Amino acid sequence: MSNLRDFSGKWALVTGASAGIGAELARQLAACGAKLILTARRVDRLEALAAELTASGAEVRVVAADLNDHAAPQQIYDATEGAGIPVEILVNNAGLGQFGSFHRCALEQELSQVRVNCEAVVHLSRLFVPRMVERRRGWVLVVASTASFQPIPYLSTYAATKVFDRFFAQGLAAEVAPFGIKVTALCPGPTESEFFEVAGASVFRARGVQATDDVVRQALAALALGKLTILPGASGRITSFLVRFLPVGLITYFVARAARPYAERSGADSSNSR
Ligand SMILES: NC(=O)c1ccc[n+]([C@@H]2O[C@H](COP(=O)([O-])OP(=O)(O)OC[C@H]3O[C@@H](n4cnc5c(N)ncnc54)[C@H](OP(=O)(O)O)[C@@H]3O)[C@@H](O)[C@H]2O)c1
Repeated sequence: MSNLRDFSGKWALVTGASAGIGAELARQLAACGAKLILTARRVDRLEALAAELTASGAEVRVVAADLNDHAAPQQIYDATEGAGIPVEILVNNAGLGQFGSFHRCALEQELSQVRVNCEAVVHLSRLFVPRMVERRRGWVLVVASTASFQPIPYLSTYAATKVFDRFFAQGLAAEVAPFGIKVTALCPGPTESEFFEVAGASVFRARGVQATDDVVRQALAALALGKLTILPGASGRITSFLVRFLPVGLITYFVARAARPYAERSGADSSNSR
């Protein structure tokens, strides 16, 4: 655990810091002594968290940005590295899903998953990682999911974005390890946050969720140690292991059977109005 002290005094940029896992990542990084840059769309939430962290002694900046906007990563970079703030810890956490039959899902929220969960992760990493390479030091956390271990009918786009995140993080980790940079793919299972509400998938939340602080504690310990992947939940560790031995068609068939009745009931009419 002593590696957590390495975060002390470093600037950490956390995307999706206005809620859920991102807000808790910011809290626990601040508790490690890191300085925080909080970004998301809901500025009121970010300001409230900034006030809380500042009161506990942390140095905090807020950068409002909508990662649906292709220009947002560059704007975040300009407001931080470009303004002389060296970002040594990049947390690619912002993300969203949409539950329901693909042919009835809101197109904008399907495309938003690709932009926020994938494109912004690549863009932000491509902007900040070169500076970490120059400094021969840095940490990148990419929040993937247990959804990255098999296709998930009725969350088809979401699961595909998360396998992208996991493979991206794992590939990048091998590339930048020689420069002293640690990259970790965090793969939580169902976790306490606003995710299910945004995705229109509250029925799955009712089945039980892991506490956010537990997920984040394990994530930061893994990042500090430079672990490639962290599965913070026991069920995720078991299922991600078992799926290696089963035909993907069979797994997908059973996931579809389990999810279909709820997808049909949900009407796939969720929309991310933020
Ligand atoms: N909760 C789970 O069960 C679970 C499981 C596995 C993986 N994950 C992953 O964990 C990450 C965090 O999600 P969460 O569970 O904490 O959900 P959450 O409570 O809904 O938080 C999502 C965060 O992403 C931000 N965000 C969404 N769209 C954005 C946009 N267009 N631009 C900028 N920020 C945006 C939101 O901020 P604003 O709305 O203020 O912009 C919010 O801060 C996601 O990548 C998710 O896929 C979650």
